[in-house]
Amino acid sequence: MSKKRILSGMQPTGALHLGNLEVLRTWVRLQQEYDMFCCIVDWHALTTLYNRTEEIVPAARLVAADYIAAGLDPERCSIFLQSHVKEHAELHLLLSMITPLGWLERVPTYKEKRENLQLSDEATSYGFLGYPVLQAADILVYRADAVPVGKDQLPHLEITREIARRFNHLYGPTFPEPASIVNEETAVIPGLDNRKMSKSYDNAIYLSDDADTVAKKVMTAYTCPTKIRKTDPGIPEACVVCRLRRIYDPDDYELSWEEDRRGERGCMQNKRELIDVLNSVLDPMRTRRRELIADPGALESWLDAGAERAREEAAKTLRLVRSAMKLDNPRP
Ligand code: TYM
Repeated sequence: MSKKRILSGMQPTGALHLGNLEVLRTWVRLQQEYDMFCCIVDWHALTTLYNRTEEIVPAARLVAADYIAAGLDPERCSIFLQSHVKEHAELHLLLSMITPLGWLERVPTYKEKRENLQLSDEATSYGFLGYPVLQAADILVYRADAVPVGKDQLPHLEITREIARRFNHLYGPTFPEPASIVNEETAVIPGLDNRKMSKSYDNAIYLSDDADTVAKKVMTAYTCPTKIRKTDPGIPEACVVCRLRRIYDPDDYELSWEEDRRGERGCMQNKRELIDVLNSVLDPMRTRRRELIADPGALESWLDAGAERAREEAAKTLRLVRSAMKLDNPRP
């Protein structure tokens, strides 16, 4: 029996952070079992970096390095840039013709992003509204069975299924409706200020941060507001430092949580220990990342091989799509 297929992607809008890393760790766990397509969605990055486009190509190389540094095996998974597989653009165009505007206007990430980033009318482009259609194309062009993501992406997965359903209804069964894979424990990694960790909130710890930067950032992190003195009982669930400890030290966090609850340890001790835990997770990645960046030729050839494999599969889907839509070019 052939393996089930997975597609997922990340935007090269800068360095990846711990929130992204959690999803990446899920990909790494799934790579044995699934046929994996790991995309770097450089066209999506244009929705926010349209006036700083020179940042995208270097960021895309760093994201590729982080994918591999986190444990993705480029011999096993296809790691590639979205813009290297033109079929994403063709399918995006075709799907855009059958996606009602109302669906896009209702996507919560569209409204939130507009408000949070306080985008001007100029920045609220046609492409920005159509972001989820391009994402649907990324997924459907591989006829993926499942998509591992963080919780913030669920509305995009929902609209992908709706678009697939509409296509199948109009032109005949062509796409599976992809399931989402969300790790409930780590579906929303908190940032230093207790909001969701995100580049746009300036509350993130990046995989590119060195040990000192991680230490400085953790020292500023939000802790339980009712724990003023070391001996006050804490509520670890309400403390970013404790919550991150639990994620990155899953086997040993419990005792520290109990001591925190009983007022037997202070926030400084929690912070110092978290810094050690985080750096021990990040250190091996830092080393691997440096090696990968020092050998751009190897990285490039993995990206070429990944794109070639992706193009092959995407081209097969587009043949099915054109045929379902009766758009095949008759040969004279
Ligand atoms: P992006 O680049 O914002 O994020 C990449 C992945 O990281 C997850 N994530 C988080 N998970 C837990 N806690 C957080 N604080 C956190 N922040 C980010 C995201 O859920 C995501 O899984 N639209 C996508 C990119 C995309 C895509 C796709 C994803 C384009 N095409 C096709 C899947 C399939 C995005 O902006 O992700």
